[in-house]
Amino acid sequence: MTSRRSTLITGVGELLTCDDTHEGGALAPLSDAAVVVEDGVIAWVGPRADAPTTTDAKVDLDGRALVPGFVDSHAHLVFAGDRAAEFAARMAGESYDGGGIGVTVAATRGASDDDLRTLLAARVAEMRAQGTTTVEIKSGYGLTVADEARALRLAREVTPETTYLGAHVVPAEYRDDRAGYVALVTGEMLTACAPHARWIDVFCEPASPHAFTEDESREVLRAGIAAGLLPRVHGNQLGAGPGVRLAVEVGAASVDHCTFLGADDVAALAGSDTVATLLPGVEFSTRSPYPEAGALLDAGVSIALATDCNPGTCYSSSIPFFIALAVREMGLTPAQAVHAATAGGAKALRRNDIGRIAIGARADLTVLDAPSHQHLAYRPGVPIARVLDLS
Ligand code: NIG
Ligand code: FE
Repeated sequence: MTSRRSTLITGVGELLTCDDTHEGGALAPLSDAAVVVEDGVIAWVGPRADAPTTTDAKVDLDGRALVPGFVDSHAHLVFAGDRAAEFAARMAGESYDGGGIGVTVAATRGASDDDLRTLLAARVAEMRAQGTTTVEIKSGYGLTVADEARALRLAREVTPETTYLGAHVVPAEYRDDRAGYVALVTGEMLTACAPHARWIDVFCEPASPHAFTEDESREVLRAGIAAGLLPRVHGNQLGAGPGVRLAVEVGAASVDHCTFLGADDVAALAGSDTVATLLPGVEFSTRSPYPEAGALLDAGVSIALATDCNPGTCYSSSIPFFIALAVREMGLTPAQAVHAATAGGAKALRRNDIGRIAIGARADLTVLDAPSHQHLAYRPGVPIARVLDLS
């Protein structure tokens, strides 16, 4: 017989549940709160004075704030090499059209499994050190049957949230045969990748000669759905386009970027279950306009905040920095930004066991070296967030 291990967490300066079912509201900070964790699951949340005291262990946070572990619902972590020179050229005036992805594809194809595994582990550790407890990881820098399947196999070693992105760009060897590449992505490559993936994604961006049109994207998503994968979409990143509407049409859990939205896109999102995942690190690193996140919330759209950590448009793994950007540039309050990076990310991954501090949820908790969640935006670039280790 195994015994249950319980821990009482006290000294919580402020607790933000981000739990939409919480009676006081998801964003009402609790003061003088306590949490009991039992075998990795939250067993009790409430006022310190009412907390059970018979736990096996006790942890005192000494006035620090506690938030749900960050849920980074959009990242591309399986790659080799970097594109610092491309970034510098962009800061000097070049624009981004997705063409640089081919540089990373070449470097990634040339890397060994062990090299990629080491790079991936370092990136996941970097995220965890900044408070992230769940990460979604996409393929998309292999673009052959074997290289895409390998990326997903490696990603599966570190997260269940793996996404098949064979339709990231049309690789150089298929430049004159786009239809042939879509057939590969929806055929042999899908068969090899589906066992290692939960999601299917496509870079739907008719404005880029490298990415996929609306019809190609629909074909890719429908094939993935038929193979048992759940859809998500890269859309409306480089300009107005069909990505958001297509995402809503196929019932995607999320449409990501949403840099350029029209009123019809906002209305479609508001009437759907599709989350708009905002990636302010991309706007920052490509010098693009920030979407108006506050206006999306006002319109009734569900939003998530994620890093999009990748070597091209945003080589940063820092959810805290993007919370600061979302507050400074996108019209969110600090609490709304934290909610988007926790409960929002969980919704974008169709998970309700993460992203909130509530009875029955996983005890994925992030502690701040600060008395309130507001400090995440107030102290940009300062490493105040870390995962609470209860082991
Ligand atoms: O989310 N938009 C497509 N994919 C990535 C960029 C990948 C790259 O440039 O390497 C993104 O921005
Ligand atoms: Fe992306």
